[in-house]
Amino acid sequence: MAKNHTHAQWSSRTAFVLAATGSAVGLGNIWKFPYMVGDSGGAVFVLVYLVCIALIGLPILVSEWLLGRRGQSNPVNTMQTLSRESKKSPDWVLVGIAGILGSFLILSFYSVVGGWSLNYAWSTLTGDLGQSSGVAVGDYFDTLLKQPGTLLFWHTLFMLLTFGIVAGGVKGGLERAAKWLMPLLIVALIGLIGFGATTSGFKEAATFMFSPDWSKLNGGVVLAALGHAFFTLSLGMGIMMAYGSYLGQDVNLIKTARTVVILDTVIALGAGMAIFPVVFANNLDPSAGPGLLFVTLPLAFIDMPGGFAFGAIFFALLTVAALTSAISLLEPVTEFLEERTPLSRLASAFVAALATWTLGIAALLAFNLWSGFAPFGLDIFNLLDALTSKLMLPLTGLAAIVFTAWFLDGESVKQELGLGPKGRVLWHYVSRYVAPIGVIVVFFNSL
Ligand code: PHE
Repeated sequence: MAKNHTHAQWSSRTAFVLAATGSAVGLGNIWKFPYMVGDSGGAVFVLVYLVCIALIGLPILVSEWLLGRRGQSNPVNTMQTLSRESKKSPDWVLVGIAGILGSFLILSFYSVVGGWSLNYAWSTLTGDLGQSSGVAVGDYFDTLLKQPGTLLFWHTLFMLLTFGIVAGGVKGGLERAAKWLMPLLIVALIGLIGFGATTSGFKEAATFMFSPDWSKLNGGVVLAALGHAFFTLSLGMGIMMAYGSYLGQDVNLIKTARTVVILDTVIALGAGMAIFPVVFANNLDPSAGPGLLFVTLPLAFIDMPGGFAFGAIFFALLTVAALTSAISLLEPVTEFLEERTPLSRLASAFVAALATWTLGIAALLAFNLWSGFAPFGLDIFNLLDALTSKLMLPLTGLAAIVFTAWFLDGESVKQELGLGPKGRVLWHYVSRYVAPIGVIVVFFNSL
């Protein structure tokens, strides 16, 4: 009996680590992180980001899992139960609701970028992405952005894949496949870094990423780094809370969080070291924005033997990583509709996907027909990103850790974390002061 029990827990822990890593590792690491580094002055951003990950991201990840495991339900119900149990205001349920709204907003533009990745996988394979001349490769991305119909086609395809996986209940299958494909993505990144090392831009890239120019430090950079720490770890959206609710008591939250965080960070840094050598070797602009990955890598593929076959594989793997994140984004909205409305699971997934797809159209039009439309000074694509990463995720994550540290009864926390005396003191200070104050200071400083 005891043996069976242990075995069942072990297999669920593996599945859990896979699902959590699948959600965390995605376009955020490979597409978004490098272009943010480029936009925000290089190493300064990287260092602040690493500090945010360690002192804020990791403890909040632990808190979200802890709340989920305690509450044993979707984020909204979890916050309802836990605030009732600890006799606190029912308004804490807003944490769950904000998370669901956040997932919806993020998936809308995430799917547009997932579409780019699909398009690149396809066009590197078929040769549409000019294989002989560097000029054509460089122009490909700009041309793509100017074609709303094409963008819509690939956005739709990406959304359909996401919907199909969530509705068809084959998430487990995708996650098992990702178990093999993720390491391949890492191998592909290592290959790209190796290629970068042969270019003239490698040293400059390493300096750019790791040797800080402190004059570039300002409130905007710090907020961007903080927001990205949330984005890349899938925090502040109730996703990790939902995952935590399926977690067996024997899983050590802190150790598991450390594994996920290290993997996620190493992949992001690796993506930076894959992209920047090519940027510098070709005299490109590191602050090219959201197109950075897509404009840069094809230039590397041109120079590599068998580069375009490799490129097609790379973008296919990137698409898989994006899909494992996208399903984690569609899940909360789907689950919420399923539990709160008379809709079936299939209908809920459909409505969730349709709504997200529709908002995604506004995001993709920002690159062409609606490029002049910029409420609050940002086009819709960037507005959706800023609203979520810089506002909603930090605030929701803050609420999650404040609730855990200050409102949940200490005995539950002690049981959940199973720390020794020293660890408990450390957790006490980090969760009550360091992480929350960190978020608050960054946040208000930059307003
Ligand atoms: N963490 C994912 C990534 O880095 C994106 C994501 C954000 C997924 C929020 C789920 C929730 O690509």
